[in-house]
Amino acid sequence: MSRIAYVNGRYLPQRDACVNVEDRGYQFGDGIYEVVHLHNGRFVDEDRHLARLERSVGEIRLALPMPLSSLRQVLREVVRRNRITEGLVYMQVTRGVSRRDHAFPTTPVPPSLVVTARRMAPYPASIDNWSADAITHPDLRWARRDIKSVNLLPNVLARQAARDAGALEAILHDPATGEVTEGASTTIWIVDETGAIRTRHLDQRILPGCTRGALLAELEAEGIAFEERGFTLEELGRAREAFLTSATSFVKPILHLDGKPVGDGRPGPVTRRLFDIFSRHVRGGLRNAA
Ligand code: PDD
Repeated sequence: MSRIAYVNGRYLPQRDACVNVEDRGYQFGDGIYEVVHLHNGRFVDEDRHLARLERSVGEIRLALPMPLSSLRQVLREVVRRNRITEGLVYMQVTRGVSRRDHAFPTTPVPPSLVVTARRMAPYPASIDNWSADAITHPDLRWARRDIKSVNLLPNVLARQAARDAGALEAILHDPATGEVTEGASTTIWIVDETGAIRTRHLDQRILPGCTRGALLAELEAEGIAFEERGFTLEELGRAREAFLTSATSFVKPILHLDGKPVGDGRPGPVTRRLFDIFSRHVRGGLRNAA
């Protein structure tokens, strides 16, 4: 069955779905995107993702082409037409089609909206076959990483560097200070030398991960202590455990960093517990109610 994509009001076979060559997303990366996990036919943390989408478009002075309630319907329709119950939905909003000029179009043009969906293996039954190796890599991105922009060139190059090294993720760091920011497309966490669960505080230098937010809410509800406090590459190197989170990685242990084992090179007890907690969340825990 051919995949179906939503493009500006139409549901099309994906192979026929096209955007205009003068779409500003294509020419300038002038757009915003979101990726939402679909489990058992239900969107995981949908409200968090849509709130972040709304915020991101606002930060680049772009308006959504439809109210959120209609967008929710489009997401559901794309999923339905693709007959997917386990997978992800990708949505992208750009500043539309206009003769190439860096500044915004002088005559307003409607924003472009594309939604696609794709099948994915269901949430892993066990953490024992769910892990990543990572490399460290300088963070070469712009200063507004809190905006989920489709400008992903530094992320692409970092992820390729990871792949070239036989790893899954690149952990980005500020080359001047050695501070870890985040992964090329994930949030990074450690269990530090003292046993504290840590992930970087939010500001404009990282994306506010929806999985991060959901996991922190679960930890709070479970009475598990954590610190929203950044760490350096050196602290990462000394960590007992490290793991990453994202809408499509959930909680994934990092077993090797630049070829060296993290801890004993196996998923640690804290990561195991958090994997289980997030698994309950994905499967429909209260705090993930639709
Ligand atoms: N990436 N940091 C960056 C730079 C990201 O691109 C992402 C998400 C995250 C994690 O955010 P969330 O938990 O909301 O997925 C952190 C998506 C999955 C992607 O680009 O495919």
